[in-house]
Amino acid sequence: MPTNKTFTMIKPDAVLDGNTGSIIKMIEAAGFRVVALKKTQLTPERAGEFYAVHRERPFYNGLCQYMSSGPIVPMILEKENAVADFRTLIGATNPANADEGTIRKLFAKSIEANAIHGSDSDENAEIEGNFFFAHLEQF
Ligand code: TYD
Repeated sequence: MPTNKTFTMIKPDAVLDGNTGSIIKMIEAAGFRVVALKKTQLTPERAGEFYAVHRERPFYNGLCQYMSSGPIVPMILEKENAVADFRTLIGATNPANADEGTIRKLFAKSIEANAIHGSDSDENAEIEGNFFFAHLEQF
């Protein structure tokens, strides 16, 4: 079966709470292969670039502050149907609406501090993966 890639980052709330290992365990148990992984921290400007598509939304400034408030763990992942299956694994944006057993249901605190990101298309997965990782870091 052909595989494709998705991009994720474990967000500051989940990293600070010590949930990085538990979340990576769920991701691997769901059949995703880790292609690239690091721990880093965004500046508010870099967070703004990553979320530029939301520039006009009322939550944009708060989101950029929050996403730069502590370390994050970005990853590139590979699996059959990676983008859609990963969105299912993480659950709805707002944890109040997330299905039982999803990463956001288990670990997210609010719609903003929602534990984890997942790309919404193959095209964005590639753009977002390349935002954090050089080609030589992806294997
Ligand atoms: P979005 O792309 O709509 O959600 P998802 O991460 O599930 O693809 O929004 C990007 C992030 O923006 C989201 O993970 C958390 C934040 N956000 C808010 O803080 N408030 C909001 O009302 C929305 C819709 C998103």
